[in-house]
Amino acid sequence: MNAPTGPLAGIDIRAGIEQLRKERNAIILAHYYQRPEIQDLADYVGDSLELSRKAQQTDAEVIAFCGVRFMAETAKILSPEKTVILPDMDAGCSLEDSCPPDQFAAFRAAHPDHIALTYINCSTEVKALSDIIVTSSSAEKILSQIPLDQKIIFGPDKHLGGYLQRKLGREMLLWPGVCIVHEAFSETELIKLKAQHPGAPVAAHPECPAHIVDHADYVGSTSGILTYAKEMPGDTLIVATEPHIIHQMQLAMPHKNFIGAPGADGNCNCNICPYMALNTLEKLYIALRDLSPQVHIEEGLRLKAKKSLDRMLDMASGTVGQGDLGARPA
Ligand code: 13P
Ligand code: SF4
Repeated sequence: MNAPTGPLAGIDIRAGIEQLRKERNAIILAHYYQRPEIQDLADYVGDSLELSRKAQQTDAEVIAFCGVRFMAETAKILSPEKTVILPDMDAGCSLEDSCPPDQFAAFRAAHPDHIALTYINCSTEVKALSDIIVTSSSAEKILSQIPLDQKIIFGPDKHLGGYLQRKLGREMLLWPGVCIVHEAFSETELIKLKAQHPGAPVAAHPECPAHIVDHADYVGSTSGILTYAKEMPGDTLIVATEPHIIHQMQLAMPHKNFIGAPGADGNCNCNICPYMALNTLEKLYIALRDLSPQVHIEEGLRLKAKKSLDRMLDMASGTVGQGDLGARPA
């Protein structure tokens, strides 16, 4: 990190964050795609499901969410009594952008016999229009609990939906959204990279298109990919997801070699999420100091969105019976 300039000149940002964290009784939650310096000072680093659970369980009064907006909103939906801050409110997500609530509502209305199984990478409004939320680490488990004769809309990620269809042999109506980061990996460059590292396995996130997933030895969430990196045979792994996760791999396994899968220009590590990258230590410091930007959600909307999230948390831990599934949100 360069020395801060402007209004923050002369301030020790890391020490300031430490002090504010104590004064505010705050917990700092960070996603694996955050900058290394943010991961390093977070109280907890995790995938979308783990971060949702942490946000629900924490005793802290303030949740400083270092991730993207839908993640901070999820924390607020699950813990409304807490102050939830996000260092940069512009930290959106291309999947969320691909699924405007009015269009999603119209799509649902056109398919009244379908339930909506929805990826957590969406707005609070879309969560409120959905029956069950999934994350990449919980999607298979949750989908396999839904009765086979139940018709399903899956949105907004067509690649995750397509992967689930292929893996579980389950037809679903797919919303046509994509993650711009995972969409950008190049199959041609990946094949070249594999040839340069014969025997090195490929781990891919299911947000990748099928032509990338088809080359993968392991497909899973960020936490799943980390576990695979620890357990895999050999010491070189090609990683087809946002490259900031490699920071955690190098911390846990400094003797292994992790190579980011390339984009179309053949450059490794060029698939950085522009939304996740908006958060910086300086913005985190300001957010803790000012308790702003803060997430606010209208209570009626929050309660509707919470139903689909609660279903996810119950089904991901296996506490829902088959009879509970399929009902529309009120
Ligand atoms: P997971 O960490 O749940 O695998 O999600 C990845 C992601 O794209 C977050 O935006
Ligand atoms: Fe959204 Fe993709 Fe960035 Fe995740 S990596 S926040 S899915 S744009």
